[in-house]
Amino acid sequence: MEVRAATEEERRARDALTHSAWGGGLDVDQYAAREARLRGHAWARGAMETWLAVGDDGAILSSCESFASRSYLDGEQGVTYAIASVFTAPALRGRGHAVAMLRELVDRLRPRPRAHAVTLYSDVGARIYERAGFLAVTSLDRSLPAEPGDPTEGVTPLGEGEVRDAPPPAARFVVWPDAPQLDWHRERERAYAALLGRPRPPLAGARTEGGEIVFVGDLKGARLLVLRLRADTEQDARRLLRSAARAAHAAGLPRVVAWEDPLVAPRVPVGAVAPREGGLAMIHPLAPRLSASEWHVIPRGAWV
Ligand SMILES: CC(C)(COP(=O)(O)OP(=O)(O)OC[C@H]1O[C@@H](n2cnc3c(N)ncnc32)[C@H](O)[C@@H]1OP(=O)(O)O)[C@@H](O)C(=O)NCCC(=O)NCCS
Repeated sequence: MEVRAATEEERRARDALTHSAWGGGLDVDQYAAREARLRGHAWARGAMETWLAVGDDGAILSSCESFASRSYLDGEQGVTYAIASVFTAPALRGRGHAVAMLRELVDRLRPRPRAHAVTLYSDVGARIYERAGFLAVTSLDRSLPAEPGDPTEGVTPLGEGEVRDAPPPAARFVVWPDAPQLDWHRERERAYAALLGRPRPPLAGARTEGGEIVFVGDLKGARLLVLRLRADTEQDARRLLRSAARAAHAAGLPRVVAWEDPLVAPRVPVGAVAPREGGLAMIHPLAPRLSASEWHVIPRGAWV
């Protein structure tokens, strides 16, 4: 097996196949339009690569994508490659193609400059990815119901053009999305709003004296996702999450989901915490001084 980058034509051919896995709610053409739109986004144009695992006879066995994301290890900026859309056509499944592709890809990425780690967010449990050397880390969701009301009450609202870069939190290792990566999440919101004719949340986030929240509408999943949250006090957390709950309500989304972050968690007094369904965070460290257990601050904005 050889792992190589896909051409644009090969990417489009792959869309027709992967629709069966990720096209829910969209027809094949709508899904292809969504994929083309996401690939065309400024962040993805710089960060995304599509990989094909090709057999000795030239047949495509599996595929996936990698996104070069910004990370910090001991304060030093580097790159963490987030893997997405791992796919094997149904007739070829169960023969180890996906695992072999990931092993090969990790070896390809390891020598790249300032490579910290490879991550992924599994929807099919840990087992398959453990075989490729990834380790699962604690993945908890905090959810709260949408509520009626003014989402700007007690906060300074953030419009979609007002989401800025923020300094990384004080953790030894963190994958910390920049503003263009956060906007790529919003491109998905825009794409679904256009394709499904759904309303979008009225804000992109909110700020208080001691904190900031950035969120996005998951219009397909019927939830508002918190991409990044910093709250210095309980009161900041309450206000920012109330703004999110109200923005969700305004867009007809029944709940808000935040990925639990141990640095913010002690100050977040609302909502219920439960193990995450899907999106299990997994990591394969590349930097020799990094161990998997050191990855615990994981904003949803790092998801691909
Ligand atoms: C998941 C997928 C990529 C695996 O491809 P593959 O080439 O068959 O994978 P491998 O042969 O290397 O490994 C197979 C292992 O995957 C795991 N696996 C596959 N699908 C799974 C699922 N839905 N739930 C849990 N584990 C699953 C199993 O552990 C299986 O091993 P086993 O049969 O010994 O139990 C393929 O099933 C697929 O394309 N599914 C649809 C898209 C998808 O869900 N991708 C993953 C997104 S995180």
